Amino acid sequence: MLFTRRHILKTAAAAATLPLAARADFPSLEAREARQRVAPDGFPDTTVWSFDGSVPGTTIRVGQGRRVQRKLVNQLPQPTSVHWHGIRIENAMDGVPGLTQDAVETGGSFDYDFVAPDAGTYWYHSHNRSMEQVARGLYGPLIVEEAQTPDVDQDLILMLDDWRLDPETAQITNDFDNGHDLSHAGRLGNIVTVNGSFDPAFSVQRHERLRLRLINASNARIYDLDLDGLSGWIVALDGMPLETPLQLSGSFPLAPAQRADLIVDVVTEGDTASLVSVERDGAFGLARFDVTGDAAKAQRQSVSALPPNPLPEIENIEDAPLHKMVLQGGAMRWLESARLGVTELSGRELAQLGRFWALNGHAERPDDPFLDAAIGSLHRVEFVNETAFPHAMHLHGHHFRLVLDDGSLGPWRDTVLVGRGQTRQIALVAHNPGDWLLHCHMLGHAASGMMSWFRVA
Ligand code: C2O
Ligand code: CU
Repeated sequence: MLFTRRHILKTAAAAATLPLAARADFPSLEAREARQRVAPDGFPDTTVWSFDGSVPGTTIRVGQGRRVQRKLVNQLPQPTSVHWHGIRIENAMDGVPGLTQDAVETGGSFDYDFVAPDAGTYWYHSHNRSMEQVARGLYGPLIVEEAQTPDVDQDLILMLDDWRLDPETAQITNDFDNGHDLSHAGRLGNIVTVNGSFDPAFSVQRHERLRLRLINASNARIYDLDLDGLSGWIVALDGMPLETPLQLSGSFPLAPAQRADLIVDVVTEGDTASLVSVERDGAFGLARFDVTGDAAKAQRQSVSALPPNPLPEIENIEDAPLHKMVLQGGAMRWLESARLGVTELSGRELAQLGRFWALNGHAERPDDPFLDAAIGSLHRVEFVNETAFPHAMHLHGHHFRLVLDDGSLGPWRDTVLVGRGQTRQIALVAHNPGDWLLHCHMLGHAASGMMSWFRVA
């Protein structure tokens, strides 16, 4: 029988009146094993852990202020969860096992349902055994569209990751808990991919304008990025628009979990442009932009700022209490001692338990919050890095502003890179009620001590 228009209308009306429980399920987000070409041509495919069968997982795009609804279905041999990184989310949807939900067992599922209040570039990733699960590929982009999207010809997501693959088999090496990585810079890979493939190519026209959404999904690698044949501006960091776009000149850093939105024009006179990683021994191409023709429009000279997000006002920070968080431990500055729960252990004992780092003397998430904040209150947090390594400190559920050396306010971020020996201050309004993690996004560091939390009540 053919469905008539009347029939369809009737069924739709009937569906609208069904009780809540009988409504269709959310679209699923399946955590499962897959095979993918990660290494260069000539190598075998790599077995990865994915959301929906590819790394990065499904691109989730939603309009600002709309709901994201996904049923996580776990088909992996380990429990898992999804954290929506950078979203000022409802606490129960934050995806942190042991704090906001139970990890989802093999065969189980969990309904995520939340509003995305801010436009910008975000991402989602596993938050259970993340050191292993993110390294295996459990991440994807989450894009929240502005009501008025900027005037660009292409909107491209470039999700960076480095993989540690066996050079013969191209399989992920299974050495996630190795103490050397944990106590040094973290798990660094031997091959860098963009959108899950090695040296991918995008096709562009000369003088086209591109929005590049860069997302660092690596476990521990800090990129120093540069462009060749493209010129333009950084317009947003960690999802949040800059008040004044920053003209690109030279390289810029992107630490684990950080994002940068660029608006760039294709200015190369040659037939290719590229995104490069600047390293000690030279610059390496990460992705290519092959010029396949000339755009009709002439090159544009300026860019406008993206519309601001509805973030809380931060002002008079001198009056805000200052909370110090001291980062300690790791190779070369080994912990003398630190606490696990209420027990003080020596650095040697901690190392035997795979703990190498401490935040304010705790080598795991403490029982009491680092900060117990009244809702709406303004705070400053000072990260004092006494270690010999950089750390990417991330707060859940909130964005904060950097406090610059002269006391003025810098950009909004959700992850701040604190260099070795450096002290960096941030200011935040504790506006989002709940229990929120605060940790280093070098995932091996988080797993071996750099994990704390704060409460907003
Ligand atoms: Cu990107 Cu605690 O997470
Ligand atoms: Cu760290």
